[in-house]
Amino acid sequence: MNEEQRKQQETSSSQEKSTKDYSQYFETTYVPPSLKQAKKRGKEDIAIHYDFEIPVNMQQIGSGKKFLIRTYGCQMNEHDSENMAGILMNMGFVSTSIAEEADVILINTCAIRENAENKVFGELGHLKALKRDNPGLILGVCGCMSQEESVVNRILEKHQQIDLIFGTHNIHRLPELLQSAIFGKEMVVEVWSKEGDIIENMPRARKGQIQGWVNIMYGCDKFCTYCIVPYTRGKERSRRPEDIIEEVRHLARNGYKEITLLGQNVNAYGKDLADVNYGLGDLMDELHKIDIPRIRFTTSHPRDFDDHLIDVLAKGGNLVEHIHLPVQSGNNEILKLMARKYTREQYVELAGKIKQAIPNASFTTDIIVGFPNETEEQFEDTMTLVREMDYDSAFTYIYSPRDGTPAAKMQDNVPMEVKKARLKRLNELVNEQSAKKNLDYQGRVVEVLVEGESKKNPDVLSGRTRTNRLVNFRAPKSAIGQIVHVRVTEAKTWSLNGEVVEMSEVNG
Ligand code: SAH
Ligand code: SF4
Ligand code: F3S
Repeated sequence: MNEEQRKQQETSSSQEKSTKDYSQYFETTYVPPSLKQAKKRGKEDIAIHYDFEIPVNMQQIGSGKKFLIRTYGCQMNEHDSENMAGILMNMGFVSTSIAEEADVILINTCAIRENAENKVFGELGHLKALKRDNPGLILGVCGCMSQEESVVNRILEKHQQIDLIFGTHNIHRLPELLQSAIFGKEMVVEVWSKEGDIIENMPRARKGQIQGWVNIMYGCDKFCTYCIVPYTRGKERSRRPEDIIEEVRHLARNGYKEITLLGQNVNAYGKDLADVNYGLGDLMDELHKIDIPRIRFTTSHPRDFDDHLIDVLAKGGNLVEHIHLPVQSGNNEILKLMARKYTREQYVELAGKIKQAIPNASFTTDIIVGFPNETEEQFEDTMTLVREMDYDSAFTYIYSPRDGTPAAKMQDNVPMEVKKARLKRLNELVNEQSAKKNLDYQGRVVEVLVEGESKKNPDVLSGRTRTNRLVNFRAPKSAIGQIVHVRVTEAKTWSLNGEVVEMSEVNG
């Protein structure tokens, strides 16, 4: 987006604001969000910038100061937090995990369901006390919730302890915004409702040295009727293949063992690249040649999963055999109301094709129960689909109405107790399947990428199989970051226990 377009957007979003006009209280930046504006998909091209830099006068602002970023939500948010950490470190700040020590705290929020938002509002309440003890503390709210006008208005009204609100499209503006927040007296609000350009060279402080996230695209154009993401993340924009390949090569050179390609709908990768006919299958085919042990991707939308991608994935090698394929519901009427644009039969057919090409593939999914007016029979269709698919595991959710989405306007006659009872039944089935799948692993030797100490016991290490199963076993700490072979000795519902059978990589 150029300066002109941005100005236009800023003006139109302030005009479209349905709530109170807060702009008079602001001496500094005040660009509020608008979900209505965010919904519009512009035709303008997305420019790619390789020239991001932190202005010289801002490079020492954080000298002697500490920052803390709390991240909620999906991997996209985790990865955004890595960018923000990179920016802050380049401004002289150092990282801390102790809130009382921090001079800047950023809350990177998720808007996907109401309970995600409630957690954040709870946390904002706790931060009030910190601010009282340390009035110089800068508190910022960013991420998907800041793209919602209702959230921003609630913060303006009830959480005056917040100094800074910025959106998912404004991350590269963090240096300027933070400067205004530190030196100005008013709360700084800058949330562009429309996506901006792609900024390629933002600094980045990655969390680990074993697994790395690589964005391949931003935004989502699917507009499933229940979902807020197309509004909070803007239209689909793909990174250039050469930039992605270079980033993966760079991570491989630096010893990373596993890459996860990120996008809200990675199967739509490349559709917006006007000058090339290039999709996710083509990209995976090139990444397949890079010397890095494992490449994953998330999230797949069943609709755009094409045959070329299946053929490429069937080559195996560093392309692991785990497919996360959200289905949401097993009932065609509900799928239609959700605007998922596939039927149960098409989903099962696609999964069948994938299983045929990659016989040992593991399947996981996302499911929503209690969509408005979901009947008992419609829910039963989800249960039968789960049985038919025999998933390795599933993330299951109770439908949560999201302001501004079409589904939120639907009348809903399903009481919450009924939704909770359905979720319980579904979870029992999913857990049963997961436990049964784990039993299949008993006695087998699996390849495990050792991620670190297990959460429960520092004497035990844990890692994941290619199919993303969690495995716990005893081994020297030097195994962390290596790929080892583990014989599974015990299967539990959520994880496997095992013993290392080959330590060549550890010793060598
Ligand atoms: N882009 C991903 C999903 C991101 S959100 C995809 O399409 O697969 C992750 C999951 O949250 C979704 O798959 C869906 O199951 C769930 N979800 C999204 N919106 C929701 C809502 N309003 N209520 C309950 N669950 C929701
Ligand atoms: Fe949301 Fe659907 Fe886009 Fe996934 S594909 S982010 S569920 S709108
Ligand atoms: Fe949540 Fe935003 Fe991710 S709404 S799930 S953090 S894209």
